[in-house]
Amino acid sequence: MEKAFWQQRWQEGKIGFHEGAPNRHLSEHFDALGQMPGAHVFVPLCGKAVDLDWLLARGLRVSGAEINVDAVEAVFDRFEVTPDITQYSALVRYSKGNLTLWAGDLFELTADDLGSVDAVYDRAALVALPPQMRTAYVTHLRRLCPQVPRLLVTYDYDQSQMDGPPFSVPENEIRSLFEDGFSIEHLASVPISGPLAERCSGKEHAWLLQPPGS
Ligand SMILES: C[S@@+](CC[C@H](N)C(=O)[O-])C[C@H]1O[C@@H](n2cnc3c(N)ncnc32)[C@H](O)[C@@H]1O
Repeated sequence: MEKAFWQQRWQEGKIGFHEGAPNRHLSEHFDALGQMPGAHVFVPLCGKAVDLDWLLARGLRVSGAEINVDAVEAVFDRFEVTPDITQYSALVRYSKGNLTLWAGDLFELTADDLGSVDAVYDRAALVALPPQMRTAYVTHLRRLCPQVPRLLVTYDYDQSQMDGPPFSVPENEIRSLFEDGFSIEHLASVPISGPLAERCSGKEHAWLLQPPGS
C-alpha cells in the first residue's frame, strides 16, 4: 500500500485494525517464541497497538516501526512519558526505557539502527501489504532480523469478498514466503471477528516461524 494511503487512514480515524486490547494470539502464543525478560522484540508496522504495552509488561525490550508519527506519539502519551527524540537519516527515533519506536518508513530502517533482535511479532503487518510488496517486506525483515523466531498473525478469506487491506494471505503463500529459512508451525485459527467481520468472513491464523536449530 502507498504510504499516503496509511497517512490518510490515520488522519481520517479509519483505524478499524486497532484493537483496544492485546491480540488474543499474542497472549496465547507468545511463550512459543521462548523469549525471556530482557529479550528484544521487534514489531513491524506497529500502529499504536496495545500489544506493545503487553510485551513491555513482560519485561521485554520492544522496538516498533510505524509510518504515522501521531500513532507513535499516542503510544508514549498512553504511558504518560516524554520520549527522547532523535532524528536519523530517514526516520525519527522515539525512545524511553524499554520502548523504541521508529517513526517513518520501515523500508528505510537499517539493521544497524535497530540493533540485534531476538524475536519478531507481526500482527496485521504482512496482511497490510498488497501482494507485490510482500516479498520485499519479508526480504527486508530478514535483513533486519536474520535467524530469529517470529509469531505471525494473518487473515485468510476469499479475496473476492472485499479489497484489502487487510489482505488474505493463505497458507500456500505463507509457506512460499517463509519455507526457505524457517520451519512453519500452524498454532491456531479462529473466525475473523471485530469490525473486519462486518466486511468479510474467514479465519484469523497464528503461525510460529522458527529458524533451523531453534
Ligand atoms: C493494519 S495496520 C496494523 C497496525 C498494528 N500492527 C496493529 O495490530 O494495530 C498497519 C500499520 O502499518 C503502518 N504502515 C504501513 N506502511 C508502512 C511502512 N512502509 N512503514 C511503516 N509503517 C507502515 C500503517 O500506518 C498502519 O498503522
